[in-house]
Amino acid sequence: MRVVLLGPPGAGKGTQAKELVARYEIAQLSTGDMLRAAVAAGTPIGLKAKDIMARGELVPDDVVVAIVGDRIEQPDARRGFILDGFPRTVPQAEALDAMLDEIGKPLDVVLLLQVSDEVSLERLLGRRAAEGRSDDAPEAIENRLRLYHELTEPVVERYRANGTLVGVDGEQPVEDVAREIEDALAQVGAPQA
Ligand code: AP5
Repeated sequence: MRVVLLGPPGAGKGTQAKELVARYEIAQLSTGDMLRAAVAAGTPIGLKAKDIMARGELVPDDVVVAIVGDRIEQPDARRGFILDGFPRTVPQAEALDAMLDEIGKPLDVVLLLQVSDEVSLERLLGRRAAEGRSDDAPEAIENRLRLYHELTEPVVERYRANGTLVGVDGEQPVEDVAREIEDALAQVGAPQA
């Protein structure tokens, strides 16, 4: 099973991806987590990404596409994967299409977690108070939301146009969102959990 999880910052992509990994035994490919690991390890990519991420801006497409390209080829991703936080721009979506065409394995479904900007902001400020993630500062959140609307919504429309998009109400409690996702996956023929 190959799934993309889309949605604004704080929509619950990471939370739901972890549930799916446990339920379907597929790999979670989170570009945010991979970039945060690179920052923490001080790798060349991490050094390049650190300030960009703290401002809530996007890391350049070529950097992120290369990370995903490497990760998708790892043995644990062969069984299937959930892309969480990628693609976020139309060029990233085009690059993903090319990668999947090459291995002859198209996406099964693109899930859009729908939450309002207000809910997104409230969740991220809540997480900032609890965990102190650097890009959960108000100015960075504003950038993240703006870039979502400007650059990621066209990706949503692209998947809507090709018929792979399924919308999920992300403002429900975590378990109810998970149930709606499970139903959506059953519709596209994923094995029952
Ligand atoms: P990334 O880590 O992908 O951040 P994001 O998309 O802004 O998403 P978040 O992790 O904040 O939210 P989420 O939707 O995963 O929600 P979560 O489950 O965590 O990216 C970070 C940065 O990396 C980017 O800004 C960019 O700089 C860079 N980057 C990453 N990918 C990139 C790409 N492809 N191209 C370029 N740059 C890239 O939940 C959020 C909070 O809400 C948590 O506290 C959680 O407990 C809570 N919550 C979750 N679900 C619910 C619910 N149903 N009800 C109540 N609370 C909930």
